[in-house]
Amino acid sequence: MTDTVLEAIDLVHHLGQGAGRVQALKGVSLSLKGGELVLLMGPSGSGKTTLLSILGCLMTPDAGTVKVGGEAVANLDPEALAQLRRERIGFIFQSYHLFPTLNAQDNVRLALDVRGERARTAKTAAREVLATVGLGHKGKSYPRELSGGEQQRVAIARAIVGKAQVILADEPTGALDTANGQAVMTLLAEIAKDPSRAVLVVTHDPRILPFADRVIHIEDGRIISDESGSGAMKKVLQA
Ligand SMILES: Nc1ncnc2c1ncn2[C@@H]1O[C@H](COP(=O)(O)OP(=O)(O)O)[C@@H](O)[C@H]1O
Ligand SMILES: [Mg+2]
Repeated sequence: MTDTVLEAIDLVHHLGQGAGRVQALKGVSLSLKGGELVLLMGPSGSGKTTLLSILGCLMTPDAGTVKVGGEAVANLDPEALAQLRRERIGFIFQSYHLFPTLNAQDNVRLALDVRGERARTAKTAAREVLATVGLGHKGKSYPRELSGGEQQRVAIARAIVGKAQVILADEPTGALDTANGQAVMTLLAEIAKDPSRAVLVVTHDPRILPFADRVIHIEDGRIISDESGSGAMKKVLQA
């Protein structure tokens, strides 16, 4: 049996103030198991980024529970929460969020430096992970010298270098052409084969469906379906 690496129970969250206040999440529950790549799909404004931010412990929900590795994060003091975020969760954004003044290798090792890893260890790990995303030869390149697809692969390397169990990606292929988008998704699918890791990808892009083990649809702050991936669904239809 695989372990649940991330669990959300009855999340409710509001954003904005006064007349602009909206209930972005209206009671959302989901769980991610090790070895899964799950897609979160839904229209613009449906609450995807809000949900991802709460799952990644970047935001605290108004109500409900987030558990990482079975532990409720609300019980952690701020320091323990920051540590959990650094060590167990990897975030990938649509717009890469690399530091422009750092080369690829230093962007990756930053994830280890902030947790006090020894410099030599961090440098070696960064080099190895860059090689696994196909950028072994680009370690000294700065973000401006890399294509969009390459920058996103550096961002993925940064998210996985610390062996995060939960990888959360908010429209990671949104700024990429088809070939680069496929390469990035192939990489994320590869990561999700590790039975101790789960990957959750927010996307609008139906071309990503073949990579999914499971697809969750969210609309207006509610999960409206949560089903096994297209391959599995096809099998169900053919049976
Ligand atoms: N800072 C904010 N203040 C007020 N409302 C917001 C804010 N950010 C997002 N919202 C609203 O919250 C809802 C969910 O937003 P979001 O999670 O960003 O959706 P998605 O990522 O699916 O496009 C939307 O109605 C959006 O307009
Ligand atoms: Mg969004």
